[in-house]
Amino acid sequence: MIASGLLPAAAEPSTFDVTVLAATCANCHGTDGRSPGSIPSIAGRPETILAAQLNAYRSDTPPAGTTIMNRLVKNFDDAQIEALARHFASIKATQPKEAASK
Ligand code: HEC
Repeated sequence: MIASGLLPAAAEPSTFDVTVLAATCANCHGTDGRSPGSIPSIAGRPETILAAQLNAYRSDTPPAGTTIMNRLVKNFDDAQIEALARHFASIKATQPKEAASK
């Protein structure tokens, strides 16, 4: 019996799982990017805005007042920035009261 369902390991260096990346954001930006605290929510923002913000943090001259995002996104490549922007843009900004069991 062959162990099916295993992905070929490290076949493509650019392969990544956006949900794994996005999970690292949840520590600060809240589950699914809906922040309960003072850190801005990022869920439901337009994809182009999110991508622009992330690219600004990644640049050599991050926006004034940046404390941590520059370090967090420094090593992301274009595909990862795009995927994260798309991911959070696709999430509704406000969580429906009940129906959020996915
Ligand atoms: C350690 C906490 C922390 C983590 C983890 C984190 N962020 Fe942030 N994020 C911040 C803070 C704080 C700011 C405000 C800018 C700053 O101080 O760097 C911010 C700002 C942002 C903004 C701009 C929001 C605005 O309205 O200006 C975006 C977009 C963003 N983060 C996306 C992400 C994404 C995507 C991830 C995951 C890859 C992530 N962040 C992970 C703390 C965090």
